[in-house]
Amino acid sequence: MNEEQRYFNKIAEGYQALDTGSTPVRKFSEVPSLLKYAQPLAGAAILELACSDGFFSRLLKNAGAASVLAMDLSPQMIELACLEEARKPLGIAYRVGSVLEMGVLGQFDMVFSPFVMSYAKDRQELLAMCRALYRNLKPGGRLLSMNDNPSLLPDSETGFSKYGKIKRIAPPVQDGARLTVTWVAPDSNATLQSLAFECRYYTRESLEWALTEAGFVDVCIHHPEVSPEGLAAYGQAYWALFLEHPLLVFIAARRP
Ligand SMILES: C[S@@+](CC[C@H](N)C(=O)[O-])C[C@H]1O[C@@H](n2cnc3c(N)ncnc32)[C@H](O)[C@@H]1O
Repeated sequence: MNEEQRYFNKIAEGYQALDTGSTPVRKFSEVPSLLKYAQPLAGAAILELACSDGFFSRLLKNAGAASVLAMDLSPQMIELACLEEARKPLGIAYRVGSVLEMGVLGQFDMVFSPFVMSYAKDRQELLAMCRALYRNLKPGGRLLSMNDNPSLLPDSETGFSKYGKIKRIAPPVQDGARLTVTWVAPDSNATLQSLAFECRYYTRESLEWALTEAGFVDVCIHHPEVSPEGLAAYGQAYWALFLEHPLLVFIAARRP
């Protein structure tokens, strides 16, 4: 096991201990926005990269995907995903691997990559990742990438912890800058706990460059939404900061 895998195995312990799925940002924004931008899902063969504990894999399969093959670098994350699959089988296939070394796993209708681009070490690795995503799509297939917002407020901590996730970019804000992400999520006693991990920030220009250079067309960046349930539960004023300065974006693109 390499150093990166050991690092993410430690994060997996946090994913096991905390209910990140119940945080306002995940429950009322990431989930409904993903279900919106991933359409049409019915009958789609999906490859998910950096699936972690399989939270989104289960969501996509339950929402009508024909098949989901989900991969993550961390053996422990995949173990968590497989435990859940054994507990409640959905027919999702999980495997351990890196997006940078996976080769061609199939010709998928959609590749879904939740935050994988944030783990590229530099622009060249970002391009290598985009090429890997592209190679696994059938002609006409769609990429949907959940990404850290390239217009992220460098201090996305102050005022953000109520949403359940905070972020901070270490200055200077430039490609490859260190980005610290911290979950603020309940443990099994409903006590809020923090779980921090590091990744990297990329500018909009570099994300669009890497995708276009890899061959993608119709590259489009969408802001996340907040569901009517989220607005009803917390009110418009609560969400104002998040909607003005979203923690994440969805990047849609197509292989011609
Ligand atoms: C901390 S999680 C956050 C992303 C997760 N999809 C989520 O939204 O909760 C980051 C995940 O990316 C995985 N990862 C990092 N680099 C990767 C790579 N090159 N290939 C596949 N997975 C990778 C890690 O193992 C980890 O599970």
